[in-house]
Amino acid sequence: MSTEPTTGPAGSAAAGAIEHKPSAATYVRPMPSELSDAAENRQAWTDYSWPQGGHEWSEGWGSTDALWCVTLHPRLFAALPARSIVEIAPGFGRISRYLLGHCERYTGVDVTPRCVERCRARFRDQPHAAFELTDGLTLTKVADADADLVISYDSLVHVEQATLSAYLREIARVLRPGGTAFLHHSNLGAYADRLSAEDLNRVPGGRRASASAARVASDAAAVGLRVVLQELIPWHDNGLLTDAFTLLRADPDRAALEPRVIVRDDWARELAHARALHIGYLAGLGGAGARRG
Ligand SMILES: C[S@@+](CC[C@H](N)C(=O)[O-])C[C@H]1O[C@@H](n2cnc3c(N)ncnc32)[C@H](O)[C@@H]1O
Repeated sequence: MSTEPTTGPAGSAAAGAIEHKPSAATYVRPMPSELSDAAENRQAWTDYSWPQGGHEWSEGWGSTDALWCVTLHPRLFAALPARSIVEIAPGFGRISRYLLGHCERYTGVDVTPRCVERCRARFRDQPHAAFELTDGLTLTKVADADADLVISYDSLVHVEQATLSAYLREIARVLRPGGTAFLHHSNLGAYADRLSAEDLNRVPGGRRASASAARVASDAAAVGLRVVLQELIPWHDNGLLTDAFTLLRADPDRAALEPRVIVRDDWARELAHARALHIGYLAGLGGAGARRG
């Protein structure tokens, strides 16, 4: 059993394989934990070896370029370019690198000092970028109504619902009217009444069983954010919709509207498409394949 946190979905970059292979790696959090999720995450991501700076989690798409082109850019397209982008939990900047090209101002906030330092060093030639340490709950470096887009990808899956609620309050504060937020978070809580605590803890990827798409939707609406769409995703190809993407708008007058909810049982096909593009075009034209950096 690996004790390193695992994150990217199951999948194979090899030869454009269409099948969606289960990952052998598992992450079992120490339970019960005395630590807050912020402290647990800070410890985990300080200790993590970061073998490829986060690109190891892009393997299911073939490369981070393919992840950006197929999964993230199309979902953010309508909100880009943005004057001001806030990224929650950039890690070593795997996604920040793309966001930086689409805004005039960028603020990345992470709970792990090692990640903040790494991003500051990595993006020191980008004067419009700032990387700040957070307590894991707040966006104190961001002024009210200052952000056009708040994004968090492949990070808040590891936080409890209470942390998501705190960030939702902050997102409602920092988004300008009409601004957009895109959050990737756990939906494991959708199974809390069907699986034992032990089984929930055994699900790979360190997803939190307190968090769910339904709870995020209700907490978002309570702070005046409109939930436009939620995608429920079988991230680890184990029959469970463990993850969710939630798209939000700062539109308090329409916060009570029901969101569209899509079950992404075609998720494996999205990754296969990304791998095919990676192999045929991105690696083909870019030479080495996965653009690192
Ligand atoms: C799996 S890494 C992903 C990093 C990056 N988003 C990526 O996709 O490469 C998880 C990151 O989330 C950060 N993190 C975890 N909990 C957080 C919280 N409550 N607030 C801010 N950052 C957090 C960790 O420090 C770590 O950098």
